[in-house]
Amino acid sequence: MIWSLQATPDLSDQQFAQWSKLLEERAGICLGGQQRIFLQTQVSMRMRELGQSDYSEYYECVVDGVAGMMEWSVLIDRLVVKETSFFRHQPSIDLVRNYLQNKINNNTLDGSFDIWSVGCSSGEEPYSLGMVVSDIFDLARIDAYYGITATDISRAALAIARIGIYPKRKVEMINDPMRRRYFSQLEDGRYQIDGELTDRICFNQANVLNISEMPDNKLDVIFCQNVLIYFRRLLRHQIMDAFIDRLKPGGILVCGLGEVVDWVNPNASRIVADEAQAYVRS
Ligand SMILES: C[S@@+](CC[C@H](N)C(=O)[O-])C[C@H]1O[C@@H](n2cnc3c(N)ncnc32)[C@H](O)[C@@H]1O
Repeated sequence: MIWSLQATPDLSDQQFAQWSKLLEERAGICLGGQQRIFLQTQVSMRMRELGQSDYSEYYECVVDGVAGMMEWSVLIDRLVVKETSFFRHQPSIDLVRNYLQNKINNNTLDGSFDIWSVGCSSGEEPYSLGMVVSDIFDLARIDAYYGITATDISRAALAIARIGIYPKRKVEMINDPMRRRYFSQLEDGRYQIDGELTDRICFNQANVLNISEMPDNKLDVIFCQNVLIYFRRLLRHQIMDAFIDRLKPGGILVCGLGEVVDWVNPNASRIVADEAQAYVRS
């Protein structure tokens, strides 16, 4: 029987352990036993595309040299959860809005205002931040420089982000004034992000595990939501520590509510907010 018509072979315990270990070592993502079917489905679908039928042989291809790295960059896109939306967690976005507004009110805006959206997926998160920041500067009639660096491990997600065209259902939940100001509707009903915003955002492929290798310009805001939840506790803490080192004094780190627990850092204090989890660097 040809491979494409065969049932998906089951991952053995040993193969599941081998693939999970690779995913955790390379991306930090820690799979539980309940995600075994997910892993099996994604890996076997990719193997099907390549005409391969043996998990162990495919594993050897993925870990072998430069060709292996290229194959890994395709496979990792299938193994990450990329779910996202515009203004996904409003209280966290409001926190950034208030933070910038206070800086303007207190005249403490110093040079450029720099944001890093970590694990930005297909771009909805950095574009939401861009809309808010741009709105505040417009209202304050300040022609300030701001920039957003948006990174993700998935090249496919970043390709969508860079194009900046989104389906109607995703954009129509944005309030009317924002939608009219920052999007134009295409003939097919989809929406295109305004060039004014895309010019402000620099999308880069980057693995948050390699944070020490990333350019270390200091940031006003680091926004990292729904990324660390897939990592082990100790790794989350190490990455949070590294984020704090990347902030300007007084800069803020906004993570997902409950995403990191039991974490303390001598240079960070928790911002009092009921519905958001954020820290300010001393
Ligand atoms: C669930 S999405 C969250 C998107 C967005 N932050 C939000 O909250 O809507 C998680 C994103 O984290 C990315 N990701 C997972 N592991 C990563 C890693 N080690 N380095 C960088 N990005 C990673 C995934 O590719 C995915 O796009």
